[in-house]
Amino acid sequence: MVSTNKPTILVTGGAGYIGSHAVLSLQQAGYTVIVLDNLVYGHRELVEEVLKAELIVGEIGDRPFLDQLFASRAIDAVMHFAAYAYVGESVQDPAKYYRNNVVGTLTLLEAMQAAGVNKLVFSSTCATYGIPDVVPIPEDYPQNPINPYGATKLMIERVLKDFSAAYGLKSVIFRYFNAAGADPGGRLGEDHNPETHLIPLILQTALGLREAIQVFGTDYPTPDGTCIRDYIHVTDLAAAHVLGLEYLLKGGDSSIFNLGNGSGFSVNEVIEAARRITGRPILVKESDRRPGDPPALIGSADRARQILGWQPQYSSIDDIISHAWNWHLKRHGAQLVVSQPGEAVN
Ligand SMILES: NC(=O)c1ccc[n+]([C@@H]2O[C@H](COP(=O)([O-])OP(=O)(O)OC[C@H]3O[C@@H](n4cnc5c(N)ncnc54)[C@H](O)[C@@H]3O)[C@@H](O)[C@H]2O)c1
Repeated sequence: MVSTNKPTILVTGGAGYIGSHAVLSLQQAGYTVIVLDNLVYGHRELVEEVLKAELIVGEIGDRPFLDQLFASRAIDAVMHFAAYAYVGESVQDPAKYYRNNVVGTLTLLEAMQAAGVNKLVFSSTCATYGIPDVVPIPEDYPQNPINPYGATKLMIERVLKDFSAAYGLKSVIFRYFNAAGADPGGRLGEDHNPETHLIPLILQTALGLREAIQVFGTDYPTPDGTCIRDYIHVTDLAAAHVLGLEYLLKGGDSSIFNLGNGSGFSVNEVIEAARRITGRPILVKESDRRPGDPPALIGSADRARQILGWQPQYSSIDDIISHAWNWHLKRHGAQLVVSQPGEAVN
């Protein structure tokens, strides 16, 4: 990598799905990146072998460790992706979520403040809106999360507002809708374990790694009866993070932006697109609605376009699915040979 005078960015959770794509975008923009991840869900090889970035294995909640890190390295800003993000688990075990996402983040913010690092880009979520009754949802729509995961993110939004006013710690908060897709160059992709996101589950079904894709609710008040969601390509998300960082580095004030496509696709439309792109049959199993799933969730990202100049490059569901499919073929190729002998693998 060519050396530049650009700032050094600490990326927490940089071994995870969205964080690793942000690391790639930061590297491409010439920044020096340090990844901090406890590897509970992250992938060491993506950071060390694919991104060839520095990886520090540690905890965002470990204050002495953070103090030492900030004292030993000249860090100009932090991108904070590290969190637990399983909605269902957050209902079963809220303490785990409040401890990691709230107490862990507060510890990180206090360490930043003590070290004089005063710029942060934070991953929030559309789950802070709860069950909205308008689409597309603007940033000033009232927030009313219906699960502990969404509540943890809303709490940190409030903490950031107060830290900005009292301590001058400036933040860009991004409320993402459904992150999806994979690096178009095939280097990175989504690999959660357990996986709960629709597109990877559909593609695992296409690969023969799952018997069927479960569709929760076919009687919603939507054109085909299935839920509509806003899928935002992870590379577009990563690009927005670089723009958000640059906004702060130029002296921008604390601000909040939705990141979404501005349009939605129903579960059936996504499955149909996946059948078309993969050329494989994808078996569907219909189930009852899940409690708390709104019929449609679509975000307005006009603000990010206007203020940050963000322009998503990969808004079509076909781009999102084909990039994710390339990644899945690469990642699960060996298992594919076992489950579907004779199939071509690339
Ligand atoms: N994936 C989505 O659609 C989505 C939507 C909205 C918001 N978000 C938010 O975006 C962020 C990234 O999500 P993702 O899908 O990439 O998740 P991910 O699980 O792939 O990445 C999170 C990373 O953080 C690390 N981590 C967790 N707790 C840590 C700790 N205490 N110390 C150090 N590292 C820790 C994990 O090991 C993992 O590598 C999360 O904050 C999530 O809440 C994600």
